[in-house]
Amino acid sequence: MTTVQQIVASNGQLHEIHESITAVFTGATHGIGLETLKAFLRYISKPKAILVGRNRQRFAPELEALRQLNQDAEISFLEAELSLISEVDRICETIKQRTPTNSISLLCMSQGYAPLGPRRFNKEGLDEAMTLGVYGRVRLAERLIHLSTLSTNARVVSILGGAKEDKLFLEDMELKENYSVMNFVVILPR
Ligand SMILES: NC(=O)c1ccc[n+]([C@@H]2O[C@H](COP(=O)([O-])OP(=O)(O)OC[C@H]3O[C@@H](n4cnc5c(N)ncnc54)[C@H](OP(=O)(O)O)[C@@H]3O)[C@@H](O)[C@H]2O)c1
Repeated sequence: MTTVQQIVASNGQLHEIHESITAVFTGATHGIGLETLKAFLRYISKPKAILVGRNRQRFAPELEALRQLNQDAEISFLEAELSLISEVDRICETIKQRTPTNSISLLCMSQGYAPLGPRRFNKEGLDEAMTLGVYGRVRLAERLIHLSTLSTNARVVSILGGAKEDKLFLEDMELKENYSVMNFVVILPR
């Protein structure tokens, strides 16, 4: 397994390899996504970050703090409700209009929450937590590839329940019969 020291050393060399990288971050207003975004801004000399979140105004103070991390960074914030597939499609089109072909090298997704209460369904009839954690993320990657915005060697990172992967219910991918929080968390195959 890669050690933390190796990761830090590798990150420290990134500015020698890439002067500028464009990345899309979804769910990076808090937590793991936000910390990943901060590292991206620190380690790349002229980073371009496109953040997709629910509320630009609420994030404004943090956005200002992020700009202080790297004066050469270009950071934009696009509003979208990623628990809806229609919104995922809309924001992908917006990203397409703002970026040249093959320009996005990283798509980092961490939107979501642990569904500890009763299941919530969105107005499209889909489980909200599963749309944030799974369906919407697959759709984001698929649409951005289809729209030719992801570069050919782009990395797609989906932050969910790392190391918890287990049995997949292939006959019941929507977990209609087998729903539980743990079965949601382990939804990615081992
Ligand atoms: N941390 C853990 O121990 C752990 C364990 C297992 C799985 N996970 C999963 O890993 C991912 C990242 O975890 P984290 O701890 O970094 O999460 P976090 O700090 O809670 O951040 C979650 C992000 O998801 C966004 N989000 C929540 N509901 C949303 C909605 N309806 N539409 C759009 N965005 C929404 C939030 O944005 P807003 O600013 O709009 O609220 C926030 O940016 C999550 O999917 C989490 O469920 C985490």
